[in-house]
Amino acid sequence: MDETLRTPVYPGDMDPEEFRHHGRAAIDWIAAYLREIESYPVLARTRPGEIAGQLPVRAPEHSVAMETILADFQRTLLPGITHWNHPGFMAYFGITGSGPGILGEALAAALNVNGMLWRTSPAATELEERALDWLRQMIGLPDPFRGHIQDTASLSTLVAIAGARESTGLEVREHGLAGLPRMRLYCSAEAHSSVEKAAITLGLGRSGVRKIPTDEIFRMRADALSAAIQEDTANGWRPFCVVATVGTTSTTSVDPVPEIADVCARYGLWLHVDAAYGGAVGVVPEMRDLLAGCERADSLVVNPHKWLFVPIDCSALYLRRPEIVRRAFSLVPDYLQTPEGVHVTNLMDYGPALGRRFRALKLWMTLRFFGREGLAERIREHCRLAREFAEWVDAEPGWERLAPVPLSVVVFRRSGEDDLNEHLLEQVNASGEVFLSHTRIRGRYALRLAVGNLRTTQAHVARAWELLRAAQP
Ligand SMILES: Cc1ncc(COP(=O)(O)O)c(C=O)c1O
Repeated sequence: MDETLRTPVYPGDMDPEEFRHHGRAAIDWIAAYLREIESYPVLARTRPGEIAGQLPVRAPEHSVAMETILADFQRTLLPGITHWNHPGFMAYFGITGSGPGILGEALAAALNVNGMLWRTSPAATELEERALDWLRQMIGLPDPFRGHIQDTASLSTLVAIAGARESTGLEVREHGLAGLPRMRLYCSAEAHSSVEKAAITLGLGRSGVRKIPTDEIFRMRADALSAAIQEDTANGWRPFCVVATVGTTSTTSVDPVPEIADVCARYGLWLHVDAAYGGAVGVVPEMRDLLAGCERADSLVVNPHKWLFVPIDCSALYLRRPEIVRRAFSLVPDYLQTPEGVHVTNLMDYGPALGRRFRALKLWMTLRFFGREGLAERIREHCRLAREFAEWVDAEPGWERLAPVPLSVVVFRRSGEDDLNEHLLEQVNASGEVFLSHTRIRGRYALRLAVGNLRTTQAHVARAWELLRAAQP
């Protein structure tokens, strides 16, 4: 190489040779981390403020050597990490930042692309459109759906609800909400809090969300939905949207989407499906029934960063009529106008953010590396492990299961008081071997075991069960 090309420019960035040196060390560290991840306690054992207490209060005035920075990363920060990539991570929803996804993140950071406009990186936009279309095919959504990436399901749902509002023709975008009838959207009592947060953000208020009761297995009751819409209309509300969930957060219940779609069709309401976690099962042909009715939705969110092994963050929002969301959000000042005009997609038009990371790269790499078959095989196994755990609970006197297991999460408790279960959970989580979380089912404290990490095997699930049974009341 021409020596002049290697001469560091001062002031400038890290020299490429220095980058290669530290980059190798960082990649070696990551490979060792992934191999030896079980040597770390899955749940961080630090006390509040302990990490901050070790970080200098004063901002660095002078340059610090990269060796020192990487050493501090290991010494100071790692103890404060809860290891989501640990096979014993069975809290919330188990997730994985897979190898191909990690490499995709690194390459995206190197390119440092902002894909706000087509021309600010044509490949970023065109890859995003193609990768999302692959995912659409993989989960069995029909052709009219077009997808784009948001950071999280919370943002995807917010964008979908803004689209629903735009579709009413009430011109809230131009005139705001003043003077309009109060708008109302519907979701089940088990829906994720992101629905209410979206309503807060969009100025609908929490009272703009009506929570529909669920049946005995936590699914939205379509008859109650219909009755609520009629009652609200009679009382002067303007119903505009229903959010159904495939895979609710507490119990992974699946709302009856075909019946809810019928109600939406009857009253002319937008149907958004929150399949942030459950949508992944569409890749498993024999489980696709769980997504029945989703083909009739106006919008659907599925998070590849939940159960499709893409590192956080990557949320896929599918829209039947993307032009409506575009109408809700697009605002193009002079300095963002480009000669390509309407012949290209400018992804900034489909949500509140202008700048966008090149998230499609890690998605594309992950989908190709595993293929639909590989993803299906892994998800199938996670569901099998969860069913097996559920059988152990069912067979054990003194333990009870609180919900069916349609996917990969088991909700259960030791018979007795809430306090007892809280106490068991604390003991099990203190082991450092597994991390489980809790929820509340019809007012009762419940434990949740969620399988979703690629490294979780039967031995890990069996160990969780052993720890639970051994915990002292
Ligand atoms: C059903 C459901 N929807 C939405 C979300 C929010 O996801 P995100 O963290 O991507 O905003 C969650 C989070 O667990 C969820 O379980």
